[in-house]
Amino acid sequence: MYSKKQEKLFFETAKSFLAKDVSKEDLKNLRETLHFHEWKYAVQNQPVISDFEYDQLFQKLQSLEAQFPELVVPSSPTQRVTSDLNEQSDAVEHLSPMLSLGNSYNAEDLLDFDASIKRLLNIDESQDIEYCVEPKFDGGSMALVYQDDFMVRAATRGNGVKGEEMTVNAKAMPSVPLKAGFSSKGVHKVELRGEALIRIENFKKINATREEQGLAVFANPRNAATGGLRMKDPKETKARGIEVFMFQIGHAEDANGNNVLDNLNSHYEGIELLRSLGFKVPKDEIKKCSNIKEAIDFCEYWQAQRESYPYEIDGMVVKVNSLELQKRAGFTQHHPRWAIAFKFKAKQATTTLEDVEYQIGKIGSITPVAKVKPVQLAGVTVSSISLHNEEFIKSKDLRIGDQVLIERAGDVIPYIVKSFSELRDNSIEAIQFPTHCPSCNTELIKAENEAAWRCPNFQCIEQIKQRMFFHVSKNAMDIDGFGPSYVERFYELGWIQDLADIYNLDYSAIAELEGFGQKSADNIEKAIAKAKQNPINRVLHGLSIHHLGKKASQLLAENIESVFDLKDWTIEDYVNIKDIGPVVAENVFAFFAEAENIALLEKMQSFGVNMLQTEEDRPVQVADNAPLLGKSILFTGTLQKMGRKEAQEMAIKAGARNISAVSSKLDILVVGEKAGSKLKKAQALGTVQILTEDEFLELVG
Ligand code: IVH
Repeated sequence: MYSKKQEKLFFETAKSFLAKDVSKEDLKNLRETLHFHEWKYAVQNQPVISDFEYDQLFQKLQSLEAQFPELVVPSSPTQRVTSDLNEQSDAVEHLSPMLSLGNSYNAEDLLDFDASIKRLLNIDESQDIEYCVEPKFDGGSMALVYQDDFMVRAATRGNGVKGEEMTVNAKAMPSVPLKAGFSSKGVHKVELRGEALIRIENFKKINATREEQGLAVFANPRNAATGGLRMKDPKETKARGIEVFMFQIGHAEDANGNNVLDNLNSHYEGIELLRSLGFKVPKDEIKKCSNIKEAIDFCEYWQAQRESYPYEIDGMVVKVNSLELQKRAGFTQHHPRWAIAFKFKAKQATTTLEDVEYQIGKIGSITPVAKVKPVQLAGVTVSSISLHNEEFIKSKDLRIGDQVLIERAGDVIPYIVKSFSELRDNSIEAIQFPTHCPSCNTELIKAENEAAWRCPNFQCIEQIKQRMFFHVSKNAMDIDGFGPSYVERFYELGWIQDLADIYNLDYSAIAELEGFGQKSADNIEKAIAKAKQNPINRVLHGLSIHHLGKKASQLLAENIESVFDLKDWTIEDYVNIKDIGPVVAENVFAFFAEAENIALLEKMQSFGVNMLQTEEDRPVQVADNAPLLGKSILFTGTLQKMGRKEAQEMAIKAGARNISAVSSKLDILVVGEKAGSKLKKAQALGTVQILTEDEFLELVG
């Protein structure tokens, strides 16, 4: 749509508009620049300026157009909402347009907003307006239509008038009720608005897995969520774990087509109605405020508190609570007059890109890492930032010595938003991605569909070390106390050259090592003896076979008696297992086709590592009369008779599901010593069965 040259030009134009006062002559150019940046953000998911900078440009255009109203054109960015319409997919028209929001940045702006609404509605200055304040979720907006109680259509926001249909994908999201009892409220057809989000914790896991698989990582949870809405395969949408928070009832009609929104008094009531019908809506983070001062306090509270919120929010939304007043205030072309976003301060900083280092992963993936001049960013000092892959460096046109803009969204890893190319001395050359492995000098390769370059040399020293780090880690063989420094030390001493050597260490020699002693040696011996008995799903995962994650390792373990059974498996045997795909199949097949790898496993076995299926490898069988069948359970406080993990496993065997928070969904809370807020919360709910440790043990027999 835009050439590279145009892209560069629009980036520079934006910078120059930001730095100066704009005049009538700039109108056309300013509009075009905004159009470009809207497109980068909403269609491409690759903004090159920050949201704050975009808002500033938008406001410059708005005030210019206010001065020269005769020059406003229907296609101006101020006259329509931005578009994320994918030209290839089906467009559907929303029942009522999905508009944008005006922005505010501080208490003063909100006081102005309050004053302007009072003027508009002829309300005396001394009177209070009630506001509802809630998070401004930073994800992808969605519209859901329910007819006769069934979810019949879901769409993205698109250009505000039409969106892309994504009903099948929405059905794959557990937080979207397939059926909701609107008819009991006299509502025949309703359109709801909400935001699709990915929990920050979940986002980190998704990226870690993608990195492991050599796939491009997402810059932030929003990109992961909006991309997830548009997946061709709803299974992939589901795998992203998208959650949808509802924030507005856009349209509601009865069987005769009459508007029935009027039956509600306030926005808050609408949210409560949605909550009661099973929708996900904000809870402690939504508040009815009796005046603008309270609303400001709540916004500022959440500005200070945003790090503790499990989802990305980029501000709060202040909405006039009364629906009657909302109706009177009405809309501009761009946004409702009765609502405004309070945008949080961006967590951005600028620093110098000093160097790029290349890390080698356990399967040989090369990850470039920017070394930047240390800088404070939202409370932490940042000196290293992942650049993900070669394409990322190219798309941002990064060069050593550049001034770069960095950002931390939520508590997510920092990332480079852009470099200030206009500040650079043009003689600086582009970063040359290495063609050979920085550790073993083997020529790098890149597989189709993968973003990362890889060192194909399985014997590459750095890869071997990374595989050892992973093998001993909690995720794999969980050898307690055996951290990366031990691996480094024993490797340098020539004691461990492959994974099997870990199980044949000379403990008396370890006791003699400087900084170790008998006690450390005994501890290592104990931890290794324990690891030798591990279930084979851990052994398989610990081999660092490309694409073979924890879940697939468990699936394989469930289907074999011995790890060596896999020597005889065909690709079909693998893909016949539900949830094992062809990529995993090919990689595991290739691993077991190599004599060297079989020799490694035999060597491990000869040192006592278990290679046979254990009880833990088999799927958990829950009987129909299991004592906790279908119940959700949570353990809190310090348990005396069993470890937390052990207790959770017992609960699973008894048919329960472990959940992590106290909510109305929780059936049983087991309390150990020093139980705190969770116990209080459960008592307050009054619906949770509270058990002591002994009562739990008795119950599960
Ligand atoms: S109300 C007509 N409430 O922000 C009402 N929007 O900049 C307009 N958003 O496209 C929206 N959280 O996707 C509203 N609590 C919230 C929101 C919210 C996030 C998004 C929404 C909208 C964009 C507007």
